[in-house]
Formats: sequence, C-alpha cells, structure tokens
Amino acid sequence: MTRTRVAVLISGRGSNMAALLAAAEDPSYPAEIALVLSNRPDAAGLAHAASRGVATAVVESRAFKGDRAGFEAAMEAEIARHGAEIIALAGFMRVLTEAFVTRWEGRMINVHPSLLPSFPGLDTHARALAAGVRLHGCTVHLVTAGVDEGPILAQAAVPVLPGDSEAALAARVLAEEHRIYPAALAWLAAGRVRVEGGRAGISDAPWATGSLANPLPSAPGLSKR
Ligand code: GAR
Repeated sequence: MTRTRVAVLISGRGSNMAALLAAAEDPSYPAEIALVLSNRPDAAGLAHAASRGVATAVVESRAFKGDRAGFEAAMEAEIARHGAEIIALAGFMRVLTEAFVTRWEGRMINVHPSLLPSFPGLDTHARALAAGVRLHGCTVHLVTAGVDEGPILAQAAVPVLPGDSEAALAARVLAEEHRIYPAALAWLAAGRVRVEGGRAGISDAPWATGSLANPLPSAPGLSKR
C-alpha cells in the first residue's frame, strides 16, 4: 500500500500533530507524516516530532514581514522537498494567501476548536462560554479562501458544564480534536472525500447514531426514554 505523504504545519504545542503522528505509526493508516513544519522556531511540537524520527523544518514567518508570498514559497519548497501531497494545519496560526489556498484546494485540511460555522476565528472557548451554549466542540474542514469556512469533514460535540473555565472547556474539546483529526486525515488521504456544491461527501463514512442533549431532557413527569 502506498501511503499519502502529509506535511503537518504547526505554530506551537502540537498536540494535534502528535495525534496525527501517533495514528500514522500504524502501517495500515493511509497517511504518512513526511514533514512537520513550524513558522516559529520555539514551537514545542518540533521536539516531539523529532523525537519520533519525523523530519522537521522551520520557516520563520517573522523573517518574511510583509512578504506573505515569499513566506509561503519558502514553506512550499520544504513541502515539495519532502514530497508531501496533503497539508494538515494543526494549530498553525498564520492566515494563508488566497493563491496558496487555491493551489492546495482539496488537499489541505484544518482543525478548528468550535462547531463551525459557530465561532470562527480566535478565542472560541471564551466566546462559547459567553454565549451560554450547551454544546460546543470541534471541526475538521477542508481549507478554502474564507477563514474557517471550507467544506466540513467531521465534527465532535461536547457538553458545556456549569462552572466550566475556558481551560476546562478547551481540554474537553481538545480530546475530541485528537479523535476526529486523525480519522478525517485518513479519509482524505485514502481518496474517500469528494466535494460537491461546497459540501464534502465521504465514501463509506461510519455515520454516528444516537444524540447528545445537554442538560439531559429529564424532569418530573417526563418519562424516561
Ligand atoms: C487547537 O485547539 C486547534 O484547534 C487550534 O489551536 C489549538 C492548537 O493546539 N487551532 C486554531 O485555533 C486555528 N484557528 P495544538 O498545537 O496542541 O494542536
């Protein structure tokens, strides 16, 4: 089996990258992590990738102030050098140019810490708490020119609980990111994703059954179902 070569782009901690690396350690996983690339030399995830024997590279965005095309060209040179055919953004905190996104359309995915289209952008957990939503979660989507707008591949929902801090909610969501991101990357790498009319289909997807209500719809007089 030939495995699809993937470049994972990070800016920091890299826990999603670590989840992808762990999945790709199984030889039957359809993707192989060919490169972990950071735009920051101090990204903690770089050391983890290196410790797992994965190639790493740093292309410092700071060195390309005002020259986004130059920054992206330098990244693409590294990505090409490692033969990567898919890009997985994993906490990569730079907005990419439309030209770059168009070149990689259908071959670049991202994980975002909210149930899109709710809460695109930053500070998603604080905004979810402020909005009083009962369910929050995460999304893996194909990257298109609109930030956090591309076709959705997978989502996971978690309950928001009374007294939740931003950190507690973030941790609950992050655990789900680590579950759905490796699965979504596998579907893309195996050629199981088709986009039509701005929406993604996944062949033979194991669709969920059941539902999650929060709080549980239980009260005196309501029979247990
Ligand atoms: C993750 O929660 C990811 O969803 C988020 O940054 C965190 C990175 O953590 N990404 C974004 O907000 C992108 N808009 P990690 O470095 O441990 O994977």
